[in-house]
Amino acid sequence: MIPDLWYKNAIIYSLSLDSFLDADGDGVGDFRGAMRRLDYLQGLGVSAVWLAPFQPSPRRDHGYDVADYYGVDPRYGSFGDFVEFVNACRQRGMRVIMDLVLNHCSDQHPWFRAALEDPDSKYRDYFIWADEKPEDAHEGVVFPGVQESTWTFSPEVGAWYFHRFFEFQPDLNIANPAVQAEILKIVGFWLQLGVSGFRMDAVPFLIAADGINVSNPEPAYDLLRNIRAMAQWRKGDAVLLAEANIQPSEAIEYFGEDGDRLHMVFNFPVNQTLFYALATGDAAPLKDALRTGPDLPETAQWANFLRNHDELDLGRLSEAQRACVFEQFGPDPDMQIYDRGIRRRLAPMLDAERTRMELAYSLMLTLPGTPVLRYGDEIGMGDDLTRPERDAVRTPMQWSDGPNGGFSLSPEPCNPPISTGPYGFEKVNVAKQRSDRDSFLNWTERSIRLRKELPEVGRGRCTVLDSPDTTLALRFDWEGLGSIFIHNLAEEAAEFSLNCLEEPPNDGDLVCLQTNARSKADANGHYHFSLEPLGYRWFRFGGLDELIQPPGVQH
Ligand code: NOJ
Repeated sequence: MIPDLWYKNAIIYSLSLDSFLDADGDGVGDFRGAMRRLDYLQGLGVSAVWLAPFQPSPRRDHGYDVADYYGVDPRYGSFGDFVEFVNACRQRGMRVIMDLVLNHCSDQHPWFRAALEDPDSKYRDYFIWADEKPEDAHEGVVFPGVQESTWTFSPEVGAWYFHRFFEFQPDLNIANPAVQAEILKIVGFWLQLGVSGFRMDAVPFLIAADGINVSNPEPAYDLLRNIRAMAQWRKGDAVLLAEANIQPSEAIEYFGEDGDRLHMVFNFPVNQTLFYALATGDAAPLKDALRTGPDLPETAQWANFLRNHDELDLGRLSEAQRACVFEQFGPDPDMQIYDRGIRRRLAPMLDAERTRMELAYSLMLTLPGTPVLRYGDEIGMGDDLTRPERDAVRTPMQWSDGPNGGFSLSPEPCNPPISTGPYGFEKVNVAKQRSDRDSFLNWTERSIRLRKELPEVGRGRCTVLDSPDTTLALRFDWEGLGSIFIHNLAEEAAEFSLNCLEEPPNDGDLVCLQTNARSKADANGHYHFSLEPLGYRWFRFGGLDELIQPPGVQH
């Protein structure tokens, strides 16, 4: 047993400083603003705050274009404010995870400027160059429709440089040992300042060492092991959480067979099949995705999410499946993006229907792994489709019905909150939901508390039980604790029996954590359930308050 894997029973909350709370009234959210809401986050049950990029940046891609890896963008405050923020989180038992964007930097980064200006600069080899325009320059673009190419000509250098993302985000050449050394130094620097780990951006591209070979690069998994080793030498309990939209079969390479690479990877296949299940009522592909995942080493963990700061990427679904999700959740072409995704928040996709919102969140909270929430989803915030691309889902947090939804006292915030329509801040805000005990905010808070009382979900073995295709039934076991979660994706009531397959712990009675009702297995060991349309139930063998006998201990 490895006792201290804190991230395995954690709740991660993702926020961007610029859209959370503006304390100094300049129209941009900041560290001091976010600090004022740490008690709110603690009350919600958050264990770790994931901060979107806050380093100096021209912000042509919301900070994912870093111009100085060792700084804090003055828009958000000073270095002192950053350290105060980390400390204030720690005082509340919360950790800070920061975005680490190392596949590329900004074209304004001094390394790139030096590479352009000085032919003898060592920084030229920090980037990837080609004398001729590569034939596949139009392949592999990440943002089709707004990004034309992966190579751009530099008149200063007289050559083409490679960029997986936009042309203002030149890729770093990780085949250069000096770049790898810089990466480790950056990791060490922020750990020393108190962060508990990193959400690593675009990992498959980061480790695509042979940038020139865009379509089939050889992954440099060793880099992941080196980053892990460095992080753990500096801070034993630091975690690496990877954005890696990969096939389940590749996942073990990211975690490392011996668990010596990444701790956590976002589960994109499960996210996409989950939305398919929500859109169609068919949970079969979700079950397949859960069943086909690899056996993970003990320290490895999936991270589960519903929505994030990007589009809802549906690129891993079949064309027919994707069409079903588009039809249900993003029928208007303006709701879709990059030929593969939807640029809407969760609540509008579900028509803010409470039953559907609870079903979606209940599913996400009880999938094997660690849940990652997106700021504002706990109150059912909406999106603003009049804004370009992914900006639609990046509107400010709605705290109250006061000026700018309580986000900023500036007469002209850089990023104005949603002020009209059913998702405007007068209708959807934290203050209103705090005082309503049945609000979605309070439901979420209660559900998170319950979820954290069930460590077997984050830490245990998950079995997908046989149940009708329109339902999902998962069993978790860990250290003598056992639970079962059932969900009905259909709009009709469901009746079914479950064979729990293995001997259940305790007396075998399932206690429903929503109603406290007890169910017993029949003579064949089957439990019988009925669920209302779109219903869900969480059960614990023996209940939450049962005293359990640790395995192997005899009295
Ligand atoms: C992935 C991030 O999620 C996205 O928001 C960003 O635009 C790209 N990486 C480029 O850094």
